[in-house]
Amino acid sequence: MKLIDGKVISESIKQRVMLQVNELKEQGVEPCLAVIIVGDDFASRTYVNNKKKTCEYVGIKSLEFAMPETTTQEELLSLVEKLNADNSVHGILCQLPIPKHIDEKVILNAIRPDKDVDAFHPVNAGHIMIGDGTLLPCTPAGIMEMLKYEGIEIAGKNCVVIGRSNIVGKPMAMLLINASGTVTVCNSKTQNLAEITKEADILVAAVGKAKFITADMVKQGAVVVDVGMNRDEEGKRCGDVDFEAVKDVASHITPVPGGVGLMTVAMLMQNTVTAAKIQNNK
Ligand code: GUN
Repeated sequence: MKLIDGKVISESIKQRVMLQVNELKEQGVEPCLAVIIVGDDFASRTYVNNKKKTCEYVGIKSLEFAMPETTTQEELLSLVEKLNADNSVHGILCQLPIPKHIDEKVILNAIRPDKDVDAFHPVNAGHIMIGDGTLLPCTPAGIMEMLKYEGIEIAGKNCVVIGRSNIVGKPMAMLLINASGTVTVCNSKTQNLAEITKEADILVAAVGKAKFITADMVKQGAVVVDVGMNRDEEGKRCGDVDFEAVKDVASHITPVPGGVGLMTVAMLMQNTVTAAKIQNNK
């Protein structure tokens, strides 16, 4: 078994981003990411801090807009519109979840597609489906980078994605389809799930259940990508895959922590630089 090391691969992406940042700065453009966080969700705070820290590392300017839980939809919309119109801001990210009294769709759809570094806007989702997206959803794009780095062929392979969210499962399926994989998308209601996962050459688990994928669900020699972010019964961080058991069956496997999560942030940096280039015709 070979460990797919998110630390090493995300570092290589960040180094690539740094070069692009320096090039843009030499041309008078300082890439800038605006991060909006509404309310005080603990996990969101951790993610936002991590995004800001990574911005600093690669030389991207970051602006944080922390708004109270009581923020109205109109207030949040007017901030998005202000950032849309600000030429010095290239990327806008609204950390999810947002409070329930605000319609998430209205906010995400208000972000200018060319500043939509999460690639959640329907325009960007459409480009991903057609296969000509420039801003790609960070987690699926990060997984594609991992597969590429490891020299894993996708064309002609059976790819099984478990999870059909708009953030991970659906765009992941699209990127694998565009790479000529034979793709099956499962969800929590799928019958005979193990029969399907056992056919996978490449298995992507985005279920949200700790250690859900057991060794008997994985084909010998499969590539296993774990998108999960859970806590086990002892409170330790773990993925959707029972790593200790599956590592003896898989040919390649991503760990949690130290896997896909690191790629997501690195790809956000790449998207911010890509957005800055597009907006400045570079
Ligand atoms: N919350 C959990 N994952 C994400 C993400 O990828 N982007 C944003 N904006 N919020 C999230």
